[in-house]
Amino acid sequence: MRQTVAVLGGTGQTGKHVVQKLLELGLHVRVLSRDLAKARELFGNSVEVIAGDLVEVRDLKALVTGATHLLAAHGADRFSGERRYELVDYVGMDKALDSIPAGQATHIVYLSCCIVYKSALLSSTHLGQPLYWKRLTEDLVQRSGHPYTIVRPGRLNSSKSGSLQVVAEQLDLGGGYIAREDVAEVMVQAMQYENARGKTFETFNVAVLPARDWNKFFSELKADTKLV
Ligand SMILES: NC(=O)c1ccc[n+]([C@@H]2O[C@H](COP(=O)([O-])OP(=O)(O)OC[C@H]3O[C@@H](n4cnc5c(N)ncnc54)[C@H](OP(=O)(O)O)[C@@H]3O)[C@@H](O)[C@H]2O)c1
Repeated sequence: MRQTVAVLGGTGQTGKHVVQKLLELGLHVRVLSRDLAKARELFGNSVEVIAGDLVEVRDLKALVTGATHLLAAHGADRFSGERRYELVDYVGMDKALDSIPAGQATHIVYLSCCIVYKSALLSSTHLGQPLYWKRLTEDLVQRSGHPYTIVRPGRLNSSKSGSLQVVAEQLDLGGGYIAREDVAEVMVQAMQYENARGKTFETFNVAVLPARDWNKFFSELKADTKLV
């Protein structure tokens, strides 16, 4: 039987590349979306679409039950109100984690953001807010007891993937850009490598010839210290 991968934010500008890459691997993909028509337009009938708004759903059992992986590339937009970053990014992830049946091994790959830790130390200014909630969401994932990988990209752009090298850092210094499709590739590769588990890292594009040894990419990262 094909593995099932659940995706949050699968209809987004980054998430749609994640879904495409999962489909290329021949996996069964389950996507949550508030907008069935948008999901169908993007993916036709090649994915299972679960209709739901992260702010409103009580649980996400229909999304995560039976999933070997949960790839989360969701992010709040203005339609979710003033507390959107809290309710979509953070509480949404909490609901997803809570809905994973006891004993089910699900590797979580979470799309966060670079400089998230530094920003969380700043007060809840308007600019700081999304990153503040992303940092708390990282904590949730790290403490969930599930295997996880946290990917913190630089500023996202829509340039073509593959023209620049993808690098990883663990300095939380920020700076730099990365193509959304490259971030999607990092997320989909992370779910396939044992040595990507338990790791949190920033990722950027740099102008060096592409050389993608994914095993080396993940091996060179240090594992997070245990939190619980
Ligand atoms: N922009 C940057 O430079 C940058 C840098 C680093 C990290 N990030 C982060 O990267 C992530 C992805 O960015 P992106 O530009 O690809 O995002 P995007 O195109 O805005 O996509 C957002 C996704 O989140 C889903 N979503 C939003 N609100 C939802 C809700 N209430 N319930 C269910 N799903 C909801 C949307 O699904 P539906 O509309 O189908 O419901 C959509 O699939 C975001 O979290 C962003 O903060 C961005």
